[in-house]
Amino acid sequence: MQSLPGFRDFLPDDCAARNYIFACWREVARRYGFVEWDGPVLEPTELYKKKSGAEIVDQLFNFIDKGEREVAMRPELTPSLARVIAAHEREFKKPLKWFSTGQFFRYEKQQRGRLREHFQLNCDIIGETNLAADIELVALCIDVLRAFGFTEKEFVVRVSDRDFWTDFLREKDVPAHRWDEVLQAIDKSGREPREKTAEKLGKLADSIFSILNSGGKSQKLDQLVDGLRGRGLADYVTIDVGIVRGLAYYTGTVFEVFDRAGKFRAIAGGGRYDNLIAQLSDGAVSMPALGFAMGDVVLGELINQTPHARQKLENAIADDRKIDIYVVIAKENRRGDALAQIQQFRERGYRVDYPLASEKVGKQFQTAEQLGARVAALYGDEWPQVKVKTLATREEFLIDNDELQSHIGHVLSQSS
Ligand code: HAM
Repeated sequence: MQSLPGFRDFLPDDCAARNYIFACWREVARRYGFVEWDGPVLEPTELYKKKSGAEIVDQLFNFIDKGEREVAMRPELTPSLARVIAAHEREFKKPLKWFSTGQFFRYEKQQRGRLREHFQLNCDIIGETNLAADIELVALCIDVLRAFGFTEKEFVVRVSDRDFWTDFLREKDVPAHRWDEVLQAIDKSGREPREKTAEKLGKLADSIFSILNSGGKSQKLDQLVDGLRGRGLADYVTIDVGIVRGLAYYTGTVFEVFDRAGKFRAIAGGGRYDNLIAQLSDGAVSMPALGFAMGDVVLGELINQTPHARQKLENAIADDRKIDIYVVIAKENRRGDALAQIQQFRERGYRVDYPLASEKVGKQFQTAEQLGARVAALYGDEWPQVKVKTLATREEFLIDNDELQSHIGHVLSQSS
């Protein structure tokens, strides 16, 4: 039996890498004062049909449940967030700064960087129209990537503004019902042959291509970059009006993050969606919002191919795996005494391991090294004393078994 296409098994090393990614995500989101929340993984299909846009609806993992409901595995978090905010908005002081780490499902054509399940960090600010929120959000996104050891040499945030394009379409008298279609064509233009985009754009093609080539002017985006410059982060951003984002609900600032070498798909993307909450609540609650999501798949690939980021991940995993004490059972008749001590260590929060079955002492020390134990405690002929060995320095001494608990903290602190 094999797993389904686009679904991953997480063996211990993969799980350790995943935990490392989650830990960095959480740590930086908290540094920015964001609080964690989550939604359900299954939602009414309607939620996405209404709001995410055609591309995501084509990619839904959806089915009819046993209660005849049309349901879908969540392909993204933003519609759930908008639904939750519309229902609970009164309970919280604005602006809200919420983050979440969870798994998402899209029935996509499998390709490098795109699977049928992936994890995302989502960070959203709700209830703030000021551009300061846009700057804060982009800064957070940059700092999340810096936490993995990436620098401005490895990634770039391409910022854009949907208002720039809607102003342009208004000027050209394009009816509002066609805007979405034009924006989608611009979004895809970087990944499609020029002729195909030109066909979709029709009469607008020449003027749009000329803007894309020369780069548009936007006061709002200049201000956004200035705000980041004030924080020393300007080298991480560039204005690129070619970014409009595939999702239908964005209204203003939008951005996507790419590796500098241009080898991978987008690492993260987001923007303002000031109308989504009002639309989902049929006008009952109206609240500006903005956010981004970063996926684990491209991020993992970029970490793997960036030596210093990879080293950081490997060090973090090795540190996290280390145990404190390995108990060597040299004489089987001491196993009971050793286990009584092990139980106490574990109750006090130490990470302790020992051989489940009789094994040669040399082998046990080897295991202790492999597990990264700082200290080995040997139960054998020395009883009622125990031999304690600091594995890094090979220093060893004898201690009464009764004294071991009160001394272990000191021994471990000297061995780190
Ligand atoms: P998105 O651009 O669709 O945005 O996804 C965000 C990130 O999730 C992408 O940049 C990519 O890293 C990752 N991702 C998406 N699909 C896949 C896939 N099939 N396989 C692997 N990784 C994937 C959103 O989802 C918006 N809801 C973000 C947002 C939050 N906007 C406002 N708040």
